[in-house]
Amino acid sequence: MKPVSMIVGTGHSAPEKVLTNFDLEKIVDTTNEWIIERTGIRERRIKSPEENTSDFCTEAARQALEEAGMAAADIDLIIIGTVSGDMRFPSTAIFVQAKLGAHNAAVFDIAAACSGFVYGLTLADAMIATGQYRNILVIGAESMTHMTDWEDRNSCVLFGDGAGAAVVIPSDGERGILSTYLGSDGRLAHLLYSAGGGTVAPATHETVDNRDHYLKMAGPEVFLHAIKAMSKSAQKALDRSGLTAEDIDMLIPHQANIRIIEGTAKRFGIPLERVMINIDRYGNTSSASIPIALNEARKSGRLKSGMNCLMVVFGGGFTWASAIVKF
Ligand code: UT7
Repeated sequence: MKPVSMIVGTGHSAPEKVLTNFDLEKIVDTTNEWIIERTGIRERRIKSPEENTSDFCTEAARQALEEAGMAAADIDLIIIGTVSGDMRFPSTAIFVQAKLGAHNAAVFDIAAACSGFVYGLTLADAMIATGQYRNILVIGAESMTHMTDWEDRNSCVLFGDGAGAAVVIPSDGERGILSTYLGSDGRLAHLLYSAGGGTVAPATHETVDNRDHYLKMAGPEVFLHAIKAMSKSAQKALDRSGLTAEDIDMLIPHQANIRIIEGTAKRFGIPLERVMINIDRYGNTSSASIPIALNEARKSGRLKSGMNCLMVVFGGGFTWASAIVKF
């Protein structure tokens, strides 16, 4: 099958401020050794009160546009995967449009938690297939530390902030998105969520006191589902593309836990030198995780032209997604 769309530019941005495991040792009852051994994380970037999700998006988008040789005015659609945007409404994409000056674009956010970028990529591919959109900016961005409970050692050591972006245009017939696969299971929403501020737990003194505005996660349960769903999802994308795991030159897995990353790679017989890993420096940045890793893989020269890349992700909802892209 000929690809319909392709990625011609990527970028990423993260806050300057670094929070190390040693810093966390001073905040909660944890150790650098525990965090490294159980998650693979050494440090993460955390935003300052002045920084907003749209700032990271805008910087990542500028880099992606520059590489693509495009002006912001050339963009006709902006899709942002985020669950920690600037405001409850309007969308974060609205602020990014204004900051970039992408005034010819239609813009919206999608809420698919960690899977947001790959959901967005899938949507961009489909929108280009309609023939009605040509130059699409897909961004995955989060300010996860905005909803981090710094008193909960089970979750506060995991997350970080940042954004990654990709410019998607019609394929040249050779390179591009070979297949995608999306899945969800709403029966498991209670394992990973943040209720505060929604209709379930509106912002009141009581919901603030209850810590309802922070992220809640049943870590071990999520872990088991993540391993299973990522394997299933990656296999579906392989089947749809007609490729096998041997054809994959680079695996970019969601950076949630080094043990999930290694388990997924092992399941497909992909050696770790063909796996993009940056969880040690960023932690789990939710929907920004895949596009940050993608940009680092490309800009470092590891992911080269002609290579097949498999992206696979899992997140709250639950949601899961995968995409195979020939660069
Ligand atoms: O991005 C969306 C998808 N998210 C994920 O995929 C995350 C999936 N889950 C995970 O990555 C892991 O479950 C965690 C990293 C969250 C936790 O690792 P775990 O190996 O599943 O640990 P656990 O929750 O089973 O806890 C084991 C022990 C417990 O102590 P006891 O009960 O055995 O005495 C915890 O209280 O480790 C303790 N613990 C900690 N100890 C030191 C939990 N968090 C910490 C901590 N420091 N930060």
